[in-house]
Amino acid sequence: MNKIVLSSFMFVTIFVTIQMVYVEAFNIGIAKDERVTFFNNLTVPLVVSCRDKDRIVEYETVDPGNGYSLKFTVFTLIPSSLWYCNFVWLREDHNFNIYVQKRDRCSRSGCVWYIKEEGPCKVGGECYKW
Ligand SMILES: *[C@@H]1O[C@H](CO)[C@@H](O)[C@H](O)[C@H]1NC(C)=O
Repeated sequence: MNKIVLSSFMFVTIFVTIQMVYVEAFNIGIAKDERVTFFNNLTVPLVVSCRDKDRIVEYETVDPGNGYSLKFTVFTLIPSSLWYCNFVWLREDHNFNIYVQKRDRCSRSGCVWYIKEEGPCKVGGECYKW
């Protein structure tokens, strides 16, 4: 086999293996999908940027009364996932960890937050001050 054929073959093999590991992780319950939704409970548009260790979502504008959802996969064996968000409106600029896997137990429909003037409130949970 020449090098190109060989490396294509290796690529496909690695790709398929990764897919199988991923599907298996869901099957045996060590991976799950999570959803975090936050509502803009301000009276003005909210501009949100969020990131975790490998993804960035930037400058999403959420109008008053509207919500925005982050969807991602977490591994349950080592609960180390974290989503860090920046919330900007008028002259306000705040940061908050909207999802901390060790802290948050989300229901099947996900974790829901209300973003308010004085800080984020977790539905069915605590309110935090900025
Ligand atoms: C926040 O906004 C949501 C969606 O508009 C609404 O259902 C909820 O009652 C509001 N909560 C508070 C505490 O203002």
